[in-house]
Amino acid sequence: MSRRGGERTPERLLAAAARILRRAGVDEPRAEAECLWEGVSGTPRAQLRSGRAAATAAHARRFHARVRRRAAGEPLAYVEGEVEFYGLRLRVDRRVLIPRPDSETVVDAALPRLPPERATRVLDLGTGSGCLLLALLSQRPRARGLGVDRSAGALALAAENARRLGLGTRAGFVRGSWLDAVAPGCADLIVSNPPYVEPSEALGPGVAEHEPHLALFTPPGQPYRAYDAILHRARVVLRPGGALVLEAGAGRARALAERCAAAGLRVLEVRRDLGGIERAVAAVAP
Ligand SMILES: C[S@@+](CC[C@H](N)C(=O)[O-])C[C@H]1O[C@@H](n2cnc3c(N)ncnc32)[C@H](O)[C@@H]1O
Repeated sequence: MSRRGGERTPERLLAAAARILRRAGVDEPRAEAECLWEGVSGTPRAQLRSGRAAATAAHARRFHARVRRRAAGEPLAYVEGEVEFYGLRLRVDRRVLIPRPDSETVVDAALPRLPPERATRVLDLGTGSGCLLLALLSQRPRARGLGVDRSAGALALAAENARRLGLGTRAGFVRGSWLDAVAPGCADLIVSNPPYVEPSEALGPGVAEHEPHLALFTPPGQPYRAYDAILHRARVVLRPGGALVLEAGAGRARALAERCAAAGLRVLEVRRDLGGIERAVAAVAP
């Protein structure tokens, strides 16, 4: 990526970066190089090819550093420091799981349980970046919510995301384990995407190396451990008629629905994600 004489144009930098990313095995090297350039320069991708402006030395240095991190296998979202979820731009770093598009299924399944005209209360267990809670609050201006997590770093980032999105006055964040410290009868809706990956399961490139293990893994042979901890108190914490919406790992939604029923909840729906996988289980308290 040296200048080698000629003008340092974005196009030259992009071409060199795409070569580096291709050699590193990145699937869409040119597209990712453009995303990284957009992140450092603020130039929208659509304008890149037509743009004649020279890249500043500071932009080029920052771009080079990001390309190196990406070529070393760090997920694009961490390198960029941001990701889009349910139409919101969220800050992400190694303190939190990168929100996945599949998890938008939880939001879709939860929204019908939050009447827009009512001042409802939402609990998000294992809030991470705050993605589920903030997506719900962004769609329901009268709702308030609490995000719970065991990770202090995740809670700090979730609170930052809430402030940046103008949702800070309606979202609180508290450190704790699932529903342990939550008062009875306080929630109209509980959502959660708890850790459900067994250590022996295969994950995508870079996931186990870079994303927090507290967010990913359940102990060996106990894929329902976090769900069971949540279901143990869900009925007590929900108001009558309140709903619980849980994200499920592939192939586990039906068994999870049975566990919800065994915990005294009425299962309403098992919703598929865009890939056709049963992803979210919605149930209500009597
Ligand atoms: C799969 S991540 C989900 C993050 C975010 N809600 C999302 O959907 O992208 C699981 C989250 O649960 C948190 N967690 C793990 N054990 C927990 C516990 N005992 N109590 C509360 N949160 C916990 C992790 O720190 C992590 O943020």
